[in-house]
Amino acid sequence: MAMTNKLTITLLLLISIAFSHCLAFRVEVDAEEFEPTHHEGQQEGPGGGQGGGSGQGWEEEATNNPFYFGKERFRNWFQSNEGFVKLLPKFTQRSSSLFRGIENYRFMFMEMEPKTFFVPHHVDADYVSLVLQGSGVVSFVTDKAKESFQITKGDVVRVPSAVTHFYTNTNETVPLRLAKIVVPDNNPGHFEVFLPSRSQSKQSYFNGFTKDVLSASFNIPEELVERLITGFQQTREGVVRSVTPEQIKELSEHATSPSNKHKHKDDKDDKDTTRIFNPFNLFKQDPIYSNDLGNFHEANPKKFSQLQDIDIGVSWLNLKQGSLFLPQINSKSTFVVFVENGCARFEMASPSTFQGQQQQQQKWSGQGEEAEEEQEEETSGQVHKIVSRVCKGEVFVIPAGHPIVTVAPEQNLVAVGFGINAFNSTRTFLAGQENVLSNLDNVATRLTFGVGSKLADKLFSSQNYSHFAPMVRSQQSPEERKPPAFQSIFNFAGF
Ligand SMILES: *[C@@H]1O[C@H](CO)[C@@H](O)[C@H](O)[C@H]1NC(C)=O
Ligand SMILES: *[C@@H]1O[C@H](CO)[C@@H](O)[C@H](O)[C@H]1NC(C)=O
Ligand SMILES: *[C@@H]1O[C@H](CO)[C@@H](O)[C@H](O)[C@H]1NC(C)=O
Repeated sequence: MAMTNKLTITLLLLISIAFSHCLAFRVEVDAEEFEPTHHEGQQEGPGGGQGGGSGQGWEEEATNNPFYFGKERFRNWFQSNEGFVKLLPKFTQRSSSLFRGIENYRFMFMEMEPKTFFVPHHVDADYVSLVLQGSGVVSFVTDKAKESFQITKGDVVRVPSAVTHFYTNTNETVPLRLAKIVVPDNNPGHFEVFLPSRSQSKQSYFNGFTKDVLSASFNIPEELVERLITGFQQTREGVVRSVTPEQIKELSEHATSPSNKHKHKDDKDDKDTTRIFNPFNLFKQDPIYSNDLGNFHEANPKKFSQLQDIDIGVSWLNLKQGSLFLPQINSKSTFVVFVENGCARFEMASPSTFQGQQQQQQKWSGQGEEAEEEQEEETSGQVHKIVSRVCKGEVFVIPAGHPIVTVAPEQNLVAVGFGINAFNSTRTFLAGQENVLSNLDNVATRLTFGVGSKLADKLFSSQNYSHFAPMVRSQQSPEERKPPAFQSIFNFAGF
């Protein structure tokens, strides 16, 4: 067995060295029995690691990184010339143990071409959506009224369960793009879309009733029921349809601009029942972190009642090329991050073992779920260094409590995040001016790091920046530049 492992590793190392300029994912663990190998210097330099080219090397490894969801993971719920809706499978499908805590959340994103209409529908789920690009109108139909709101980049829209709603892209040139996090009601991680009208390949929910009931309910003849609702004749129109300029005008006529109607939670005693529908814009708030290298906008359910019962925060990160969003920890929130533009390098510390390993171990031990849980509790003390290159249209999941750093090595980065369990979550920085570890007192520092307070001071006070810092090449002494003692690349499937 050890022999096989060694071979596998040698092979992987060869492959990884060959492709190391474009590795999407590496995991490195100090492991005594392996030969010392390549060192950090081989990672992408400035401008290196551009996508394309020799893909196979890293793609295969990327499939083993449980936190990374490439484009190929998405399923098309709908696709036509007018737009598409893409849905990520349940996170637990990827790893049942790592993502059990977010089993009931789904990520999706959609795009509507200019001058299109997404037919009215509802879902058996709550969701929050964020406008990534473009402008349009979202309309809600309730038993009381129709409410329409203009939406534009940075708007957060809360759509409550089972409320019929529809979208219009009123823009003549720019596609409307939305990212959504969905929280199903009936079945953890599963939801259905219900359409009152039929469209290509999707039936109307009225098909769930018999013709005589429909005829009686609407008080119309059965032939009409068939023609309007249940008929089998093919509709060529999908759920997203082209509309004329006149129709756009009508559809957006009574739309309210979110800024006019937005109310804060502190405007108390306001019994406005439509408030939950009111979109708000992330950019109308000051960024919570900002300097010339980046900014970070975040809406927390503490402040926005629209997000409160669903307990989801929404954030938007702009990071300049060559900068990093300093190491940090989110206390309660698991973040589902979607890269909207550019490529991010996420580095994350993870002490857990992964599915690939676990499954393998289960196979060997011939045990089921219980064995898996036991294994999780055995801590090896190893920290997996998870380095992921995540580009436009891809998703990365950051579990709560996991130290994470975000770098924009290649281009300016735009990434959005949905923070699950956001209400009581806090973010602490591990480096930079506002660095939590610098609050350790002298004795604790000495005991913790085994160095004198002068040295520790250097560790904690050399960084002049807060939150965002330049990714400068370090001026290392020759000694520091020596390759690290042991570094190996794990192939999860093989272990
Ligand atoms: C279309 O969207 C772009 C970008 O969001 C915006 O600059 C432009 O004003 C919009 N046009 C219309 C007609 O809304
Ligand atoms: C937040 O924490 C408070 C105090 O511990 C608790 O009462 C409340 O239920 C928590 N809220 C959420 C949404 O978890
Ligand atoms: C931090 O800022 C101070 C004052 O602006 C400067 O003297 C010092 O060299 C800076 N340190 C670093 C590491 O950039």
